[in-house]
Amino acid sequence: LAADATDAIDRLCAVVPDFPSPGIVFRDLTPVFSDARAFRAVVDAVAEPFAGSFDAVAGVEARGFLLAAAVAYATGTGVVTVRKAGKLPRAVYSASYDLEYGQATLELHQSDLPAGARVLVLDDVLATGGTLVAACALLEQAGAVVAGCGVVLELGDLGGRASLAGRNVHALRTV
Ligand code: PRP
Ligand code: ADE
Repeated sequence: LAADATDAIDRLCAVVPDFPSPGIVFRDLTPVFSDARAFRAVVDAVAEPFAGSFDAVAGVEARGFLLAAAVAYATGTGVVTVRKAGKLPRAVYSASYDLEYGQATLELHQSDLPAGARVLVLDDVLATGGTLVAACALLEQAGAVVAGCGVVLELGDLGGRASLAGRNVHALRTV
């Protein structure tokens, strides 16, 4: 149930001031993932709004991998990895973007998905949206259709949802 997931997030998410740099309030969801009941509730709830609308799941490095693998297993789909630059061995598409605390580049193998695959993109946190905007762009460059974006936690004052306007975005909790 979505309510179980929301309760677990409120109870277990760790709020860490000044990480990874001064002034950033980091929301650490790893205690949600390490709690068996909370992890199951979050995995089920994050996929539920998209039921029946996707053929594959994409996880964004690093914590998105955990969600994506679990959702793919639970829904009988495959999983692809959207990775930080320099990690993938074959031909990639690349997209650079800005974060709350810096700049990064994401990559996706060009041939990981069949053309037209409907992909659910998962990550732990939606902040500025730079990460998910880049991930969606890569998937579309690879010929996939983005079915939607699911996150556990949305940081509401950083504009991420606006940057993903027109996309089907669901967050289990917004702070
Ligand atoms: C965090 C988080 C998201 C991203 C969200 O990851 O896990 O992927 O930031 O921020 P955005 O909406 O502003 O793009 P981070 O880039 O810190 O990398 P990590 O997963 O390797 O820790
Ligand atoms: N990604 C970007 N900003 C973040 C924050 N404040 N906490 C956790 N993940 C983030």
